[in-house]
Amino acid sequence: MHNAAFAALGLNWRYLAFEVHPDNLRAAIAGAKAMQFAGLNLTVPHKLLAMEMVDALDESAKAWGAVNTILFKPVAAGGEIRAIGFNTDAEAIVTALREDLKMDLRGAKVLLLGAGGAGRTAALKLASENVAELFLVNRTLDKAEAMAGEIKKQFPSVRVTTGHPPTAVDLVLNATSLGLKPGDPSPLDEKQFSVRQTRAVYDMIYHPAETALLKAAKAAGCKTANGLGMLLCQGAKAFEIWTGKPAPLDVMRRALEAEVYQSTVRSSQSTVGSQQSTVRSPKS
Ligand code: ATR
Repeated sequence: MHNAAFAALGLNWRYLAFEVHPDNLRAAIAGAKAMQFAGLNLTVPHKLLAMEMVDALDESAKAWGAVNTILFKPVAAGGEIRAIGFNTDAEAIVTALREDLKMDLRGAKVLLLGAGGAGRTAALKLASENVAELFLVNRTLDKAEAMAGEIKKQFPSVRVTTGHPPTAVDLVLNATSLGLKPGDPSPLDEKQFSVRQTRAVYDMIYHPAETALLKAAKAAGCKTANGLGMLLCQGAKAFEIWTGKPAPLDVMRRALEAEVYQSTVRSSQSTVGSQQSTVRSPKS
């Protein structure tokens, strides 16, 4: 999606994927800086480690305790370059829910499935958007309880409980990895809570395009969306941080859909030359 966007804006840039062992992350960031890369994206497990490896943290990275985007910024023309850490994941959750589900989070009741890295960011971001009530469900209950404690402390006005809701909700949000593998069951335990009791379902998984959860939700008449919009929104925000230009969203969405859902269609931008580069590890 980034290469398509660079081409659309006539930028002679290239986005490349590198696999970096966590032991080498500091050296990789320093190397990219020395080579005058424009920036980096980072994914698991680098997002937490990088907090200590940049020269400055943007408010977004401070708020969510994770860096998924680095901007290499010269202090003055031709002068020292500083690595600034950002987080574009949290904002992407809200943007995708608004764009794809037309969802207004303020005052909403939400059942959140999953308390891993993605679940934690989602829970805190939803709480910061003033949802009325959050129900947290996770295979490992301790993690959901720890997350509930964190939210109560930071956002006392949000009602937060662990376990399934006793009544209907506005949104079920899946932040577990259940559904990624073919044949995975739905992460929603229908004996505890029926998909018919929610208006909308968002699954952060985007491949496969329709998980067992989304299939059941569609059959029950819910509004549904998969995680492709989130991937797009975090990428578009990173693009804007690096280039200072508005991201060509339609171009990026089309490239992303072609890449993710028609793996034989390759971006025609792969021959664009490179002067500055952006890198990411390949599993985001
Ligand atoms: P991510 O960074 O993508 O959130 P993660 O931190 O490993 O990845 O979190 C994975 C989430 O999926 C967790 O909520 C995990 O539940 P546990 O906390 O109990 O491990 C959930 N998950 C993974 N496999 C699962 C499964 N088979 N059934 C239910 N939940 C599962």
